[in-house]
Amino acid sequence: MFLMNAWYVAAWDHEISHALTQVTVLEKNICMFRTQGGDVVALDDACPHRKLPLSMGRLQGDSVECGYHGLTFDCVGQCVWAPGGRIPSEARVHAYPTHEKYGLVWIWMGNPVLADPEEIFEIENFDNPEWGMNRGAAMELDCNYLLMCDNLLDPTHVAWVHGGSFGQAATKDTPLRIKKTDNGVIVHRWMMDVEPAPFYKKVIGFKGNCDRLQHYEVRYPSHALIRAVFTPAGTGGPDGPLHPDTFIMDSMNFMTPTTAGKTRYYWFQLRNIRPDDEALSQMMSEDVQHAFEEDRAVLNAVQNGMANKTSPHIDLPIDAGQLRFRRQLEAMIAEETLVDGKMQGA
Ligand code: FES
Ligand SMILES: [Fe+2]
Repeated sequence: MFLMNAWYVAAWDHEISHALTQVTVLEKNICMFRTQGGDVVALDDACPHRKLPLSMGRLQGDSVECGYHGLTFDCVGQCVWAPGGRIPSEARVHAYPTHEKYGLVWIWMGNPVLADPEEIFEIENFDNPEWGMNRGAAMELDCNYLLMCDNLLDPTHVAWVHGGSFGQAATKDTPLRIKKTDNGVIVHRWMMDVEPAPFYKKVIGFKGNCDRLQHYEVRYPSHALIRAVFTPAGTGGPDGPLHPDTFIMDSMNFMTPTTAGKTRYYWFQLRNIRPDDEALSQMMSEDVQHAFEEDRAVLNAVQNGMANKTSPHIDLPIDAGQLRFRRQLEAMIAEETLVDGKMQGA
């Protein structure tokens, strides 16, 4: 069960060209391509005749010709040609709304009437010329997307999983604060007068100890902002203006459930320093990729462990934010199912 009336990332923009490509989102196969004018089209990837994936056919201009008997569909999924000349009235496929933003192709899986691109996650400094960006390829995870959402509401795991990069002693047991917002959950904490963790030591512009904020925020259905703030020790904390040497990194994470047991994970980071430093961007991408591989190994094994458990599992106080997120998302999915059921019954 997934939240249907929501935007998900279907692909990086460079992954979709004027060629038929199959992507899978929420267990649905979708045939995607760009028109000759560059617009992204997303059609149900199943010909209504014998269900051959349309992605196995060919493009004729901006229409898709089925590779079996030639039924041809336009960009909104309407059949425009059929063998024998008569087009059956049911010969159409669903066309999904899409929108390009942040170098990503977003797709709306629910009722197309409700698709509003204004609802896509707002990223504060994406177009800020004073901020730099690094990004890597999408990652395939062999786990349910909610395990990654859990992970991104869990600032403590860096102490155990990312000891060589994001973790250091204070990340083990500094108390967490939890905040429920209108569109998700935030788990955060300031750690005062601590040594910078190894990844950040290489990039922050001051020496000595720091005050460090971990802001872990996941919004429905499965999009996360992980904000890291480092200020010289004695200048941080929730109140007051930030020191001029403050380093901020916003890590953006978008989890797309491909199936119940697999997730495609898109990420990039924005930083408030050295926007044009390509070597820095590359180093950050490589280090982040390495850390995310550490997450992948843990989460793939957790998926397997939870799916095949032979004894009950327990929750801990540190799980409170994740459990709140899951409860609210479940309620939203139940509400959607109820409304759909009523509409079908009406
Ligand atoms: S399966 Fe597509 S036209 Fe026959
Ligand atoms: Fe992690």
